[in-house]
Amino acid sequence: MFNNKAIGVFDSGLGGLTVVKELIKMLPNEKIVYFGDTARVPYGTKSKQAIIKFSKENAEVLLKKDVKMIVVACNSSSSYAIEELKKSFSMPIVGVIRPGVTEALAITKNKRIGVISTTATKNSQAYEKILYRQEKTVKVFSQACPLFVPLVEQGWFNTKITLAVAQEYLKGLKKKKIDTLILGCTHYPLLKNVIQRVMGKNVQLVNSAKVISKEVRQILKNQSMLRKLKNKPTHEFLVSDRPQEFEKISKKILKNIKGFQNV
Ligand code: DGL
Repeated sequence: MFNNKAIGVFDSGLGGLTVVKELIKMLPNEKIVYFGDTARVPYGTKSKQAIIKFSKENAEVLLKKDVKMIVVACNSSSSYAIEELKKSFSMPIVGVIRPGVTEALAITKNKRIGVISTTATKNSQAYEKILYRQEKTVKVFSQACPLFVPLVEQGWFNTKITLAVAQEYLKGLKKKKIDTLILGCTHYPLLKNVIQRVMGKNVQLVNSAKVISKEVRQILKNQSMLRKLKNKPTHEFLVSDRPQEFEKISKKILKNIKGFQNV
């Protein structure tokens, strides 16, 4: 039955697992098929054309797994490729930019919002466009942090080097009196301790994974697509390269989850 098919999720690598973690919490009865494009990570340093091409290919990988919807758990892909994906595929497709904006606007009191992201997401101005459209009086300060993704892929979530890199990237933002900081890359929630330490406790970090999961639940409910089977689903994790490394670090993120494979 259509309902019992899996939710497809993709990212360039490990980052999308921060979204999977929330999806599993919020929708424990749903099966997830995850694809991490580890052969081509990082996306954030690539061109718009390359990101669109990779995103479509990732969607094809998930379609072969017969998924019922796709969650683009990558801000770089969501920034540049979401419209193309929606045009090319008929199933529901959810990106990560809008949910992050909704959450940030709900939290901010002084309307000064920071956005940290990959270079691709920063250059696309995807966050700025939606933030200004939804709230004209908001002030947005963005900063690209390209070294964060390789640090996460290495599993260096909380090391001295990670802290030093964060201090360097965030020093400009610290002067902007922001009260809310959007983690505009799905890898970044894995660095939240370091980022919070650098920004201080008065700045609220926005991890959009919860809001995305709520949106997914709403779509599945509205379209009567919730999985009906009562047995516990077995998730599948696919990567395009280096499955052992991916599996090792993934297990730190998603404890006790099985189903890793190479494609
Ligand atoms: N986690 C992705 C994002 O949210 C991709 C990061 C990258 O591969 O550079 O942008």
